[in-house]
Amino acid sequence: MNKIKIPKNRIRKLKTFTLGQRPYELQDLNSKKSKNNLIDLSSNDYFGLSRDKDVIKASYQVSLSEGLGSGSSRFITGSRPIHKLLETQLAEWLNQEKVLLFPSGFQANIAAVQGLANRNSIVIVDKLIHNSLLVGIRASGSKLVRFAHNDLEDLENKILKFKSTQQSILIIVESLYSMEGSIAPLQEITGICKKYNVELLVDEAHALGILGPEGKGISFNFSNEITMITGTFGKSFGSGGAFIACNSKIGEYFIQTSGAFRYTTALAPALAAGALESLQKIKSHKEWGINLLNKSEKWKKEILRNCSYQVKGDSQILSIIVGQEEKTMLLQKHLERNGFLAVAIRPPTVPLNKSRIRLTISRDLDLDILKNFISVLKAFK
Ligand SMILES: Cc1ncc(COP(=O)(O)O)c(C=O)c1O
Repeated sequence: MNKIKIPKNRIRKLKTFTLGQRPYELQDLNSKKSKNNLIDLSSNDYFGLSRDKDVIKASYQVSLSEGLGSGSSRFITGSRPIHKLLETQLAEWLNQEKVLLFPSGFQANIAAVQGLANRNSIVIVDKLIHNSLLVGIRASGSKLVRFAHNDLEDLENKILKFKSTQQSILIIVESLYSMEGSIAPLQEITGICKKYNVELLVDEAHALGILGPEGKGISFNFSNEITMITGTFGKSFGSGGAFIACNSKIGEYFIQTSGAFRYTTALAPALAAGALESLQKIKSHKEWGINLLNKSEKWKKEILRNCSYQVKGDSQILSIIVGQEEKTMLLQKHLERNGFLAVAIRPPTVPLNKSRIRLTISRDLDLDILKNFISVLKAFK
């Protein structure tokens, strides 16, 4: 450990925030100012459900009857009725045979890859997939092959290159990419996977609740062609925990063999109850997803109309590409001084000279906030 040295420009400060008064505000507890309320343009609580009174109440009530934590793994004494209820309701909503809960999306993704690939597999992934999936690939011992982001020709070429080896092939994509806000062409990808008879894993972390029919995810219309999807409750559901969804045969195989499912304390009943209440809210407000996407499109248009930055993103995630890391950090500070929390994303998370300010648009942001943001952005030199 003595030899460990982290390059100076890779060191990140772990900041602490608390909720501000308005639904989109966070208070920066690291700031020297006594009350540094910032408009939150960075968290993934897209509908503000983490603060929703009904969601919190549901979570509290279940805690009273079932305990705060589950005290053990699902296979020992940790399974609670709320787990079964959430699994059944999610499976019904997503039209999937089986849903299994996990304590986090990171863990669900590792479990998914480890279950679907082994040291004899070739795993072909979009260049921009989340770190948790890469960790899963490493843990599975399989061979990692990347294709260019959303590039169907490159994907097909990579499959063709390895098809003749007779090794099993697994393709991994996200439906909505967290750093670019770009959407995977899932119809075409499922078509390619079917053509070559290869398995497909889709991470729906950022799309669930927002994109696809009634927020059921972009993969919903193609779910028959997808081996497994993963989703998290830590983003639009405003809770914590995650799940995998698949057919009953694969689901049963995971129950019996997945260490990440069997040997971990079951998802806290409070989080499962919160996620279930959020699911009911998302189901009964079918317009939320589309309204959020329209709002985000307006933000994108206004930034493009008023500033000379390139803006990426076809969703509630927008990236203002600044380029140089130092300049991006200066812009982040400028925004912060003017009341906006919009975190800079820089290497190694994104390639060199592709540093950006990543915005996540949430339901409660109103037009006045957008106007104010534009004038602050324009003032940055
Ligand atoms: C695409 C993607 N997948 C998985 C995860 C992990 O989910 P969780 O936060 O529930 O661990 C994240 C979260 O950062 C993510 O962005």
